[in-house]
Amino acid sequence: MIDTHSHLFDQAFRDDLEPCINRCLEANVDKIILVGFSKETNMLAQEYAKKNEIFYPTAGIHPSEADENFETELKYLDDFIQNHKIYAIGECGLDYHYGKENELEQKKLFEGQVLLSIQYNLPLIIHMRDATQDTYDILKKYKNKIRGVMHCYSGSLEMAEEFIKLGFYISLGGPVTFKNSKESKRIAEYIDLNRLLIETDCPYLAPVPYRGQRNESSYVVKVAEEIANIRKMDINIIEKITEHNAIQLFGLEDEI
Ligand code: NI
Repeated sequence: MIDTHSHLFDQAFRDDLEPCINRCLEANVDKIILVGFSKETNMLAQEYAKKNEIFYPTAGIHPSEADENFETELKYLDDFIQNHKIYAIGECGLDYHYGKENELEQKKLFEGQVLLSIQYNLPLIIHMRDATQDTYDILKKYKNKIRGVMHCYSGSLEMAEEFIKLGFYISLGGPVTFKNSKESKRIAEYIDLNRLLIETDCPYLAPVPYRGQRNESSYVVKVAEEIANIRKMDINIIEKITEHNAIQLFGLEDEI
């Protein structure tokens, strides 16, 4: 199984990374997409991947980092991509949750990363919060040229299907196990399985029964279990299909 969105380089794992990786292997989670979102974390993802083959690093710049220096940031990312092995660009996207003061800079930074994904033929990992329409409008401009994943997707099933038409996978995480996440459960039930990924986004958003605690990549099993329950399917089939999808999207065929 693959956790397609993890931040195991986070401080939260500083004291027990090895036991944490062992719990992954015991849970049959043998690949982890290690997602960077800043200069520091893009580098950390590289360092972790050098030390342990379970990790597949990405690099990106999070919308919360967007300011008037977006051109310098994009130049940095372009250089970084040329000099490091990465499996995706992101996480990147739009986040208006804390306001829209830097809306213009966010859009420039995001669209720049979309263009880099085309230039280097890499998938995108999209972070989208309270910004569905603007995210959709930017991605739509590049339909048929881009591919990627809507990470920890929390929008409607109908919009999910629109993102799929643009070349994206929909990734569900811990929230699908929350009682009040009705729309996530509806997505789990009706989305095209060939377009579904699973993730943790650890250390955040731990699934039930760990809700509120530190999340970790081995808990991705709980996400698969919930989807299997909702669809009344064997968990092994959910695991197999979502793993196949992740291998396709991130180009991991040659790695196994
Ligand atoms: Ni994340």
